[in-house]
Amino acid sequence: MKLRSLKLSFRFVVPLALVLAMFAYIVVPLMDDLTVRWFVRDLEIRSQSLANALQDPLLEYVPAGAKKRIDQLFDRAIDDERLYALGFCDDNGKLLYKTRTYPDSIGCRDGLKPQGPNRSLLRLPQGTVHISERELMQDGTLLGKLILVHDMSFIERRSADTKKYAIIIFVLLAIVISFITVLVAHISFLGWMNSVKSILRGELLPKTESSKKEKTPSEMQPLMGDLQSLLHEYRQERRGQESPSQLWTPDKLKSLLQVDLAGDQVLVVSNREPYIHTETPNGIVVKRPASGLVTAVEAVMRACSGTWIAHGSGSGDRQTVDSKDHVKVPPKNPSYTLRRVWLTEQEEKGYYYGFSNEGLWPLCHIAHVRPVFRSSDWDQYVAVNQRFADAVIQEASRDDPVVLVQDYHLALLPRMVRDVLPKATIITFWHIPWPNSESFGICPWREEILDGLLGSTILGFHTPFHRKNFLETVDRYLETRIETEASTITCRGELTQVENYPISIAWPEDDTADILTVEESRAEIRKRLSLAPDQLLGIGVDRLDYTKGIVERFAAVEKMLEMHPDLVGKFTFVQIAAPSRSSLEEYQNFETRVRALMDKINQRFSSADYTPIILKAEHHEQDELTTYYRAADVCMVTSLHDGMNLVAKEFVAARTDEQGVLILSQFTGAARELHEALIINPYHIEQGADALYRALRMPKIEQRERMRSMRALVKDFNVYRWAGHMLLDAARLRQRERVMSKIHSHSRASLRRVQ
Ligand code: G6P
Repeated sequence: MKLRSLKLSFRFVVPLALVLAMFAYIVVPLMDDLTVRWFVRDLEIRSQSLANALQDPLLEYVPAGAKKRIDQLFDRAIDDERLYALGFCDDNGKLLYKTRTYPDSIGCRDGLKPQGPNRSLLRLPQGTVHISERELMQDGTLLGKLILVHDMSFIERRSADTKKYAIIIFVLLAIVISFITVLVAHISFLGWMNSVKSILRGELLPKTESSKKEKTPSEMQPLMGDLQSLLHEYRQERRGQESPSQLWTPDKLKSLLQVDLAGDQVLVVSNREPYIHTETPNGIVVKRPASGLVTAVEAVMRACSGTWIAHGSGSGDRQTVDSKDHVKVPPKNPSYTLRRVWLTEQEEKGYYYGFSNEGLWPLCHIAHVRPVFRSSDWDQYVAVNQRFADAVIQEASRDDPVVLVQDYHLALLPRMVRDVLPKATIITFWHIPWPNSESFGICPWREEILDGLLGSTILGFHTPFHRKNFLETVDRYLETRIETEASTITCRGELTQVENYPISIAWPEDDTADILTVEESRAEIRKRLSLAPDQLLGIGVDRLDYTKGIVERFAAVEKMLEMHPDLVGKFTFVQIAAPSRSSLEEYQNFETRVRALMDKINQRFSSADYTPIILKAEHHEQDELTTYYRAADVCMVTSLHDGMNLVAKEFVAARTDEQGVLILSQFTGAARELHEALIINPYHIEQGADALYRALRMPKIEQRERMRSMRALVKDFNVYRWAGHMLLDAARLRQRERVMSKIHSHSRASLRRVQ
């Protein structure tokens, strides 16, 4: 309180002091000067008329030498208190007559040159005087001159008085004005603070656009939106910063489902299945596909049980399901059910390759590949979404299941399920970026996609930025009510909560026997690739996709070798690239470009026993990837645009030795969390090369500091927390729904009783 009043008085005193200083040093001297000039002009007019009055008698007395009369005349004249003295000089400059008061030093003024702007003033020991002269002519000849000396001290006195009063008035005025200003500012500030407090307490939250205008004070209206979104982000951040003691584990997630969701049924639906059975000459083998979505959701499903509905895309899938198209997974330790949905080749072509991966995928990623939209693909997309929705409805054992919808392949499904199961809690997660509203506007079926998604109870994105883009897109293309502060959209009378939930991985359990240690991994991979034990190793792990920045990564490796020839022969980069969507031309072209660039770089730097870049364009199981992560000195994640990128988090999780450097593109969601990585712009090749060199030369102690901090974060912000937060939000909304419907039925019953 004291500090505040101190600040306030400081704000009050300083401007006041400035104004007074300005007054004392500029205004007062100016005023002084003006007053003197004004009085001097006055005295000159006065001297003129006095001289006129004295002229006639003098013309008579001087030639006659009537000294006595002249003395009398002069004495009478100086009775006027302001006229101090009079003198008369003849034409030879001799002082003939003068009053007693006439200062000797003035004489006939020859040689006396008053200084300054007021040249008629003279400072004498008895005070300042004003001197004026008037020549007397008789019949054309100069008789002499009359010298009039006025006392200026009264003017000085008057000027001093004026100054004193002016200063007093000015100070009083300044105090009053400053006081009023501070008071007004204080009152406005209090009003403003109260409005901000009300907004923060949620009291000014508008329910409709018009009520927004009515309730919010006009000065707050421009700030309303910003404050609301800030508040929302703050709440989100706070929620994300729960203490590490609240570590999310599979068990915690399980108990959340049992307690908060009262054992409700959980259904997951995605295009990609978590286990693909493939026919081989040696029988059916099962693989985990390369998909960030699968990595994350699979861990959650293991904890929650339930049913996962997905496209059965493997050649051995049909042989492994039962009559209901179910198969228990994971194969080694079954804990949930996989329900497969079958698609014809034509459906897969239109829905998966066409609309999803030639349309929505490039539309949502800024990777400079044009999206292609065909009506025939759209028709298949609608039909297949319906097929998946029917499967969800079929699998639902009650009318209010919790349905977790995954990704851009199934944007229409939430609405389709909602229409049949209005009580279902539908949580949709969009695993890829959401573009800005202009970019999204390119999609010819944008309204349908948005409406489909708004069938969800909760809609999740990785980052606040994607969430904001989504809200703006809906605002632009659909008639809905958006509440920015609460981040909700009301469409067709139903509410969708839009949130950001950064996805993650399951923190690996303590080293198990079948996974190689860091030392073993280093030795094993170097041996496998015929590299020297101390060879520096870089690693990249991606699907062979144009969004992943593989070309830019290779270019950075080339630049680094060019700038640091001492590393030629000593550094090898291994790119693991899982084949992906290879029936699409864009992906085939991309693979050709990647291979051509690799060949060019290899030709440039390779020798008999050295190849700088090794490409492993084949599927790798998770354990093998862990071995590579552990063997590497540096991992490069250089996506041109990525929702999250779980490879970055997998690398960190694999480094139990707290060594290894992560180079991470600024265009990934992961870059918002893993600040200790070397963050780069992948389009800037030299920057990538510098980061790579820096990583290879980074002291072990720095590597440890960075890795330790990233590991702590990934461990805490694991996939169970991701799912836990979504499910907790869902539980909260379900609870609210239940309470609301109880209240409604209660009030309906009371109404009936009254009637
Ligand atoms: C991205 C998408 C996932 C997809 C994965 C693999 O991570 O967000 O939905 O599963 O890529 O792509 P694919 O087309 O092979 O499923």
